[in-house]
Formats: sequence, structure tokens, C-alpha cells
Amino acid sequence: MTETAGLGLFGTGVMGAALALNIAEKGHRLALYNRSPDKLDALFGRAGPLAERLTPCAAIESFVEAIAPPRAIILMVAAGDAVEHAIEALLPRLAAGDVLIDAGNANFHDTRRRTAWLETAGRAYLGIGVSGGEAGARHGPAIMAGGSHEVWGRVQPVFDAIAAKHRGEPCCAWLGPDGAGHFVKMLHNGIEYADMQLIAEAYGLMRDGLGLAPAEMAEVFARWNAGPLRSYLIEIAAEVCATTDPETGRPLLEVIRDAAGQKGTGRWTVIEGQQLGVPVTIIEAAVAARNLSAQAPARAALQRLLGDQPGRLDGALGDREAALADLESALLAARIAAYDQGLAMIAAASRTWDWRIPLPRVLRVWRAGCIIRAALLDDMAGALESHDGGLLTTPHFAALVRERLDALRRVTVAALGHGLAAPALATALTTLDSLRARRGTADMIQGQRDFFGTHGFERLDREGTDFHGPWEK
Ligand code: 6PG
Repeated sequence: MTETAGLGLFGTGVMGAALALNIAEKGHRLALYNRSPDKLDALFGRAGPLAERLTPCAAIESFVEAIAPPRAIILMVAAGDAVEHAIEALLPRLAAGDVLIDAGNANFHDTRRRTAWLETAGRAYLGIGVSGGEAGARHGPAIMAGGSHEVWGRVQPVFDAIAAKHRGEPCCAWLGPDGAGHFVKMLHNGIEYADMQLIAEAYGLMRDGLGLAPAEMAEVFARWNAGPLRSYLIEIAAEVCATTDPETGRPLLEVIRDAAGQKGTGRWTVIEGQQLGVPVTIIEAAVAARNLSAQAPARAALQRLLGDQPGRLDGALGDREAALADLESALLAARIAAYDQGLAMIAAASRTWDWRIPLPRVLRVWRAGCIIRAALLDDMAGALESHDGGLLTTPHFAALVRERLDALRRVTVAALGHGLAAPALATALTTLDSLRARRGTADMIQGQRDFFGTHGFERLDREGTDFHGPWEK
């Protein structure tokens, strides 16, 4: 086979196929391989004139040979074993200078290990987070790259070309060595979980608390999408509310089971947050809420045992417009708090692994193409450009949250007081209250730890870390 392709793509499932067409559309020739050839056939069936730039390969050997060295091969397979198998199959056939680029949702620990593995074998490895779902992959995703900066420089033009553009600027950037790109993608997804849960809670409060019909909620979300909440997730919430089930003619939301799925990136975020000791409480609440939603037997039993009536807000937030205004403010404050936590976790990981990830660059990559793209991100990037602390300590975002704190409290109190679950909103509020409390309650914990285990405590009135109480043992 002649060496015609500039790069290769291994895995032509939904995301791989979309990425292949995007790359071909930008003028690149691409060799393609998929374990099951039917996926390749399906891709060619819809490639149209772009098929001319695609070289389908039936075997790994011919796939590698079809790519001009130094080879760049994008892996677009499910995270986990499939990536491992792909590397094992490709590695013996690679030459010095070749690079494998994992563009799936890999766990960043795996990416760190694989980077070291490939480098030891004299090959290069990049782990890049790609966000935007199938449509993003096809027409412009956000791309978060990690790995050797020099190696990234060789392939960057291709990724810049296929990435989403924000006012002409590619939403594609190198964020740091080895696992940095996949770590940032994991946090993107963690924030995505938090934002989706907050939106779902606002929806629940409108549906159950205010008695709004799906069509009315579609209007509310659309209205919010014209204000500071403007974002892809609010936009699609409006669309989901407005959609009718073609089979029954009923609002689609009324026929979707209220049990959330998950592939694991939100859970990984929470696990890593705990490992790093960084509080990502709103993401934790969101992951827990998904887990709770999937507890079908427990839910059925408790509906029977404790009663299942969803509460109504009964004017607790004033008239409908006042309630909706409070809800919008509460959602914005909680969303900012969730971003603050996610960004703090990226900063902590960056220190731990010496990645030096620039947060403004991360936020700029997220401005278009990805699932959490939102109007606020531009301001967030600007606010953090010349600021050392976290997002919530910037004057702009501190003011935005301060002005909405009362609304967040009213909404949370009304929801909890009327039996409506709003765990992420409530967590956002209690997190903010915990952080701003002049005097917390951990003095009691420290006293008890010292009492039963002589663990020592710090004193407010003296320097030092190992004071003890006058306990009688
Ligand atoms: C994206 C999405 C993408 C995917 C998630 C969904 O950025 O394009 O985050 O990665 O849709 O895997 O995650 P869950 O299945 O865990 O909700």
C-alpha cells in the first residue's frame, strides 16, 4: 500500500467516525482502522466526497503502513482495556518518532502510565480530552491536550483546524505534560455533572414546586438562556422540555425514566477530589444524586413507607415571576460555586504533578465546542488572568455570588421546607456558608481528636501545631 495518509485513526465508532469526517473535511488524508469492519463500511456510507481522503484498512499492519512516518495515530476507543489493547497491537509496529494520541475519556492515571510506557519504548504518547459529543467531534470540539509540548507542536495544526472556534480562536490548547489534558477533561465532566444536576433541580422545583408544564419550562429555560446563565446545557434543557414523544404525543420528559446513567468521569472526579483533599462538594452531590436516582428498589420502598407526595412551594417564593427570578439567581450562584471548586481542583492537581496548567487557558478552551460552554467562561478567564486566588475571591465573581446568596438561601429553604429534594443547590449554599463562617466548628473535632488520640491541635493565641488539652485519662 502506498504511504498516502498524513495520520491514522484507530476506532471508528460514533465519536471516531465524526472525528474522521471532521479531519478529512479540513483537507487531511486519513488511514482508518476498526476492529469490526462494519463500522468502517457505515462511515464510508456517509462520507460522501470526503471518502476520497479516507483509506480504510482491514488489518493493523496495512493501517500502520498506510500512514506516512513519522506517524501520528489517534486512538478513539472506549477508555480502559480497549486503549490498552490498541497500544499493545500498535506498539510493535511503530517506529521512532511515531506518536499515539488517545482522544477518548481515559483516566489520567492511565495516561500518565501509558506516556511513561511509550516513552520508555522510544515512542511518544499524547492524552487529549475531546468534548462536545458527536456533533462536536464532527463540526468542532473543544480539545484539551496533554503530553510532551514538543510532540504536541507537531500535531497541533490538525487539532487547531478541527476544533471549535470562539471568535476565530481555536478552542484547543496544550495544558501540560502527561495526564494534564485528560485530568482537565475529567474536571470538565465533573463540572458538567454539577451543572446538569443544578439544572435538573431547578426543573424539579418548577415542575413540582410551581406546577409548570414542560412547554412553560421550555420558555423559562429559553429566557434564562438569554441572560447570564446563557450556556449549552441551559439551551438544551429548553429543547428537552419542548420535545414531544412521537410515539405517545406526550411531552418527552414525561416518558423518560428518572434514573440517571453515568460512564464514570464524574465519579473519578470525586475520587480524585478526595485523594487531593480538595472539596468538590457540589460535584459530589451531583454524583450522589445520580446514584440515588438509580436506586429503584429503595426508592419504591421508601415511596410506600414514607409517602411519595412531591411538595408544592405554595407561594413560599412569592408569585410565579418572583419564584423564577430567585431560581435563576440561585442557579447562577451555585453554578459559579461549582466552577470555583472544579478550577481549584485543577490547580491542586497541577501543583501535585507539577503540570503548571494555566486556568485562564483552560477556561478559554471551554468557551466553545464543549458541553459546559457558557457565556460566563470568558469573564472567568479574564478574572483569573491576573489573580492568584480562586474564582470566588475575584471581585467580579464574589459580587455576582454575594448578590445572589439570599436568593439561593430562599430557594433552598423553600425546597427543603416543602419536601423537594435539591441536594446540589443545598450543598452549594452550605459550602458557601461553611467557607464564610467567621468561626467554624472544627475546633470541636480537634478537641475530640486530641481527647481520644492525643492528635494535637493549633491554638489561636500561640504559634505551634502540637498543643494538647488538660484531659484526665
Ligand atoms: C463531552 C461529554 C462526553 C460524554 C460523557 C457523558 O464532553 O463531550 O462529557 O465526554 O457525553 O461521557 O458522561 P456520562 O455518561 O458519565 O454522563
